[in-house]
Amino acid sequence: MEQELQEKFNQAKSVDQSVLPKAQREVKAQVALRERSPEEIPGETIIRVREMNFWYDQFQALKNLNLDIRENEITALIGPSGCGKSTFLRCLNRMNDLIPKTRVEGALEFKGRDINRDMDIMVLRKQIGMVFQKPNPFDMSVYDNIAFGPRIHGMKKKQELDELVERSLRKAAIWDEIKDRLQDNGLSISGGQQQRLCIARTLSTNPSIILMDEPTSALDPISTQKIEELMEELKKEYTVVIVTHNMQQAGRTADETVFFLNGEIVESGRTDKIFTNPLDKRTEEYITGRFG
Ligand SMILES: Nc1ncnc2c1ncn2[C@@H]1O[C@H](COP(=O)(O)OP(=O)(O)O)[C@@H](O)[C@H]1O
Ligand SMILES: [Mg+2]
Repeated sequence: MEQELQEKFNQAKSVDQSVLPKAQREVKAQVALRERSPEEIPGETIIRVREMNFWYDQFQALKNLNLDIRENEITALIGPSGCGKSTFLRCLNRMNDLIPKTRVEGALEFKGRDINRDMDIMVLRKQIGMVFQKPNPFDMSVYDNIAFGPRIHGMKKKQELDELVERSLRKAAIWDEIKDRLQDNGLSISGGQQQRLCIARTLSTNPSIILMDEPTSALDPISTQKIEELMEELKKEYTVVIVTHNMQQAGRTADETVFFLNGEIVESGRTDKIFTNPLDKRTEEYITGRFG
């Protein structure tokens, strides 16, 4: 059975995607889903990607992606500008749904459920939160930045809200700095604090996965270090997927590193292996700074 699947997969891989009709590509994705047996994977897979393709109208931005993202790990997405890192990250909580004429094909699963077909989008976004490059606190108090979402979802008791705000700020390692300024506007605190406030806001919905798109690229080195330390702490309870331009950051923080180029995953694996013993020449060229 295994061998049969493997043969099917090898056959499928050798065929040019673009000439396959959609139904056949879907079959291929299903076959590919079973290509790795669970024993081969050290941690629990939380996101499973098989033969995934993505288009902005006529432009194919992601090509035949295959990837396992493991629970309680930090996975770094690296690669030159425009290679599809943010597009992929946005696919994980369907932020691309907002962009007209986008299309996704193939298998993309969160805890075994099809992200694009089996999940309510509101539930999905609570489970898979996103932090952006530029901190984007709401124009309201630090306290209300955290309490806003839970209030909309019906949490009214002051004590419950107080607890949730404190817990979220503590988890984002900003409570001690900000506990006396909860009524200050979220936009009035420093950039590094704003980013941790945004992380706290994401944590307040109790997600499983936190997506971070170059979360430190607008921050100074000390704030960057704080976020990196925080990520290390967060992975005990959550799964972190981070896009970074900074090779050292990937090397310092990530358990797993994924190298994107022109919409494809060139290779992925344990970070130390990718950095010290890459299989693909292009990976080596990129990490040694010869392009990008
Ligand atoms: N909203 C969009 N509409 C059309 N093309 C887009 C859009 N966003 C990104 N792209 C294109 O998709 C490709 C991948 O972009 P992106 O995912 O932002 O790359 P990265 O994050 O790796 O820099 C680029 O060629 C980019 O121009
Ligand atoms: Mg990007």
